[in-house]
Amino acid sequence: MSTFDPEKLLRQDLNDFPPYSMGHVPLADMGKYIKLDLNENSFGPSPKAIKALAEMPYYNRYVGQEELREGIARYVGVDKAHIATSNGADEMIDMVQRVFLDRGDAMIDCPPAFEMYTFFARLNGARIVSVPRRDDFSVDVDAIEREVSSFKSQVVGSKPETCNLKLVFLANPSNPDGSVLSYADVERLLALPVMVVLDEAYAEFAGESYVSRVPTQSNLIILRTFSKWAGLAALRVGYCVAPKVITAKILQCKSPENLNAAGNVAAQASLEDKDYLLANVRRIVAERERLSAELVKLGWVQPLPSRANFILCRVVGRTGREVADALEKRGILIRAFGAPRLREYIRPAVGTPEQNDALVRALKELDAD
Ligand SMILES: Cc1ncc(COP(=O)(O)O)c(C=O)c1O
Repeated sequence: MSTFDPEKLLRQDLNDFPPYSMGHVPLADMGKYIKLDLNENSFGPSPKAIKALAEMPYYNRYVGQEELREGIARYVGVDKAHIATSNGADEMIDMVQRVFLDRGDAMIDCPPAFEMYTFFARLNGARIVSVPRRDDFSVDVDAIEREVSSFKSQVVGSKPETCNLKLVFLANPSNPDGSVLSYADVERLLALPVMVVLDEAYAEFAGESYVSRVPTQSNLIILRTFSKWAGLAALRVGYCVAPKVITAKILQCKSPENLNAAGNVAAQASLEDKDYLLANVRRIVAERERLSAELVKLGWVQPLPSRANFILCRVVGRTGREVADALEKRGILIRAFGAPRLREYIRPAVGTPEQNDALVRALKELDAD
């Protein structure tokens, strides 16, 4: 038995690293649940994407990403030189941080927010400047402005290096609350001397996007994904729309085959079938409004207005975790949260009409319990 202890070589700063836990359901059990916990698309992918996957003969080949970048460029209406693709938007969060953040540099996070921003920031050795959202979940732009103007460099470790506040990450629409930034707030953020990263994972459901600003706005980076509107969460296709110099840097620094061929093929077929997929997006938006109205009628569930494919709801008289656990016993998965501020909240994704009806029925049953 060797006495060499590999643990001693591990990064000590990762000792207490909090893993991201998604509560995965085993594939074999997937069909047993009404899955409304991870903001997936219950209408599924495009039939053309499924066909393209079945007919793809080149699993033995490395596949380039140029055609997909061209397809995305046509879809979002900007030059291909602004587009880089990634293994889900998650990977692009990491890549953006990597090309900007030297060890000790800072980024602003506005919790409650999508947790992968701080997950990667910790991995990348960044300093996280937290600017909590206000009680109504709106972004505190005044506080962001104050942080940017008063940011002071810190000495990192023993090195007297200058550290900079470089990035602001904001999802628009926001996860978990579903709100969008006002145009005026976006303008104020863009006027700051930092990179503004707008995560538009749910943009198709909001019907608004800042992608067209990118070619003329040198501090704006947009993150997008095929997971939500195109129903390809399992295939991991994301991308950024960024100023050309930044896209070039990301392309220079990313692993060449980061996006797998299945995702690549399915995403291209999805773009060719975007009318079908965007019709499903419209059905989800209509269902979102119908489900909200049904939830209000329950009395103890208070849905917040949402521009995404999920609805954050305050629950009265019980914790979100209690509601989620009780629903799970009835075969329905929704999201509850560990953060104290979100203790009284649940976040169901908007499903098909049948799934949404089942959710409302189950919540009514809980009420009767
Ligand atoms: C705001 C936000 N950004 C990014 C992602 C990750 O998307 P992807 O599946 O493309 O990694 C999610 C997923 O839930 C999200 O909510």
